[in-house]
Amino acid sequence: GKVNRMDNPHNRLIIVSNRLPYRIEPDEREGFAFTRTVGGLVAGLEPLHAQPGNVWLGWADEPAGLDDAGRARFERALAERSCAPVRLDGRDAELYYEGFSNSTLWPLFHGFPQHTRFDEEAWEAYVRVNERFRDAVLALARPGDTVWVHDYHLMLLPSLLREALPDASIGFFLHIPFPDYETFRMLPWRRELMRGVLGADLVGFHAYDYVRHFLSSCRRIVGVENESGTLFADGRLAQVDAFPLGIDYGRYRDAARLPAVRRLVTELGEEKGHEGCKLMLSVERLDYSKGIPERLLAFDAFLDRFPEWRGRVVLVLVTVPSRENVASYAALKKQVDELVGLINGKHSTMDWTPVDYYYRSLPFERLVSLYAASDVMLVTPLRDGMNLVCKEYLACHDGAGGTLVLSEMAGASYELHEALTVNPFDQEGVVDAMRRALEMPEAEQRRRNAPMQERLARYTSEKWAREFLDAAADVKRRQAGLSAH
Ligand code: F6P
Repeated sequence: GKVNRMDNPHNRLIIVSNRLPYRIEPDEREGFAFTRTVGGLVAGLEPLHAQPGNVWLGWADEPAGLDDAGRARFERALAERSCAPVRLDGRDAELYYEGFSNSTLWPLFHGFPQHTRFDEEAWEAYVRVNERFRDAVLALARPGDTVWVHDYHLMLLPSLLREALPDASIGFFLHIPFPDYETFRMLPWRRELMRGVLGADLVGFHAYDYVRHFLSSCRRIVGVENESGTLFADGRLAQVDAFPLGIDYGRYRDAARLPAVRRLVTELGEEKGHEGCKLMLSVERLDYSKGIPERLLAFDAFLDRFPEWRGRVVLVLVTVPSRENVASYAALKKQVDELVGLINGKHSTMDWTPVDYYYRSLPFERLVSLYAASDVMLVTPLRDGMNLVCKEYLACHDGAGGTLVLSEMAGASYELHEALTVNPFDQEGVVDAMRRALEMPEAEQRRRNAPMQERLARYTSEKWAREFLDAAADVKRRQAGLSAH
């Protein structure tokens, strides 16, 4: 039968990612304030982390100026939340996070070679930081533990761990796209990265296309062949597969029904949508992969082409500050500010402003009320590993209408084909989709949403984690079967 690793105290799970699920800041009372960090990775792993015994290991530098007692309090506060800190030297942290992770891997894997830097110094820091993570895991790990490593910041960690723990159960999941071989081969460190990932027993991606690309690089860069994703790395069986991440569907569905949220929805309607004015929403981290300028330009073109919609639709644009110390993000901020100004300057009237722009992260209830109040959700990234915003929107409209316009470049589009899909590079197509979305009859909206909502309610983030861990346990059984012969 299946071993339930999450409920078994002898098979503890160590989750490893760059960021811990909390942001930690000292508060006035000499304690520490913990706020949940945003993003798909944290949302997906939160239920698993909540299981007793499981630990989350990630980068956390202690706040400056702590004495010994303060340091002990810091450690305790983390331990109480089942978190273990990895401390990084300031300069290394910068070269690893802003440098190699977000100025090399992120842009290249999302198809932005023009934003990609190839810097030996950043690579060396990336290696050192991955080694630091290894040391932190080794200090914590006990025989029988499963170690699940997450994302592009830690691609070397699986093999670093494998050298020290040859029999351990090690999983790796990439939360961003894996690019085609022609793109991946541009990396001077492609072989090391490939070898690094192959230290895992199970390698997971959001979509089959990423699996395909990974396997192709595997064959061409390190000469490892596979059969249906099963391969032998250094004689050890490993599996590569797709596990599309979902959301905690019930949490969004139920939140959208709370009286407090319904009140916010009514208020929003009264504030923005005076009689017959529709709301179109977009929400994301301020990132060039999300296609924000392209979306704004399409909205401008939409208002030019369909003047009858002037005064009858507002685009609510929520951008969440992200990676502000990376030059390409700072430049994008400026570009978006200017475009919003340009469009509002061009089209506004005395009683209507076309773009309602926010640069901040929103509290959960605010976000849910915006989802619930919006007639149209625009999710039009140029490239996105998965994208959970579109799923959250559908959950907030459970059993109801609301139109999702979704980029075919998002991993989520493999599952959500009933949405109005667009190529975000095709401005005319996006303009048309905006009009179709705004004019879509309620019955059609519901007809499209129902099968997507049913799928999302079934394939939740919890199910995703469970399937990955079951598959990892299965790889261990297959390995044991081979060595028994
Ligand atoms: O998409 C990859 C990812 O790591 C997500 O898990 C998360 O939403 C986002 O990037 C967070 O970025 P950062 O940790 O750089 O703020």
